[in-house]
Amino acid sequence: MSVRILFVCLGNICRSPTAEGVFRQRAAAAGLSLVKIDSAGTAGWHVGKAPDARTVKAAARRGYDLSMLRARQVGVDDFNAFDFILAMDEQNLAELRSIQPAQSVAELGLFLEYAEGPVPREVPDPYYGGDQGFQTVLDLVESASDGLIRRLRGVGS
Ligand code: 4NP
Repeated sequence: MSVRILFVCLGNICRSPTAEGVFRQRAAAAGLSLVKIDSAGTAGWHVGKAPDARTVKAAARRGYDLSMLRARQVGVDDFNAFDFILAMDEQNLAELRSIQPAQSVAELGLFLEYAEGPVPREVPDPYYGGDQGFQTVLDLVESASDGLIRRLRGVGS
């Protein structure tokens, strides 16, 4: 099985790079090797930049290295280059739906739909808040990553 997954937030410097790094590491640890993983932002403000320093630091404390990632903006080609495009919140999901080409193969949804247990529908934007916001992002992203890995295993790996 080969699955291509794109994680999307607004700036591609906080939530979606966290999802990319966490999911990549957990999928590898779970033995899911045939997975293409990437992340992008609906906005282009931070294109080419490394993730936010607070994001990199919080992730590193949990053993995820995000330092090599660089921000990019979602483009129309992504809708045929990925099987799943998973948004961190409703606003970015709506933006994705508004630019999705008619012939798109990708299935769009919210990443937290894969989380198991009592979690919110959205990963809150931590950019303008304090350190706790970055911990919350990691908690939610770890939970949804494990749920998504279980779902992918269910369809055969
Ligand atoms: P992200 O967070 O969408 O999780 O990467 C943000 C990053 C930057 C901005 C907003 C949210 N910004 O306004 O520049």
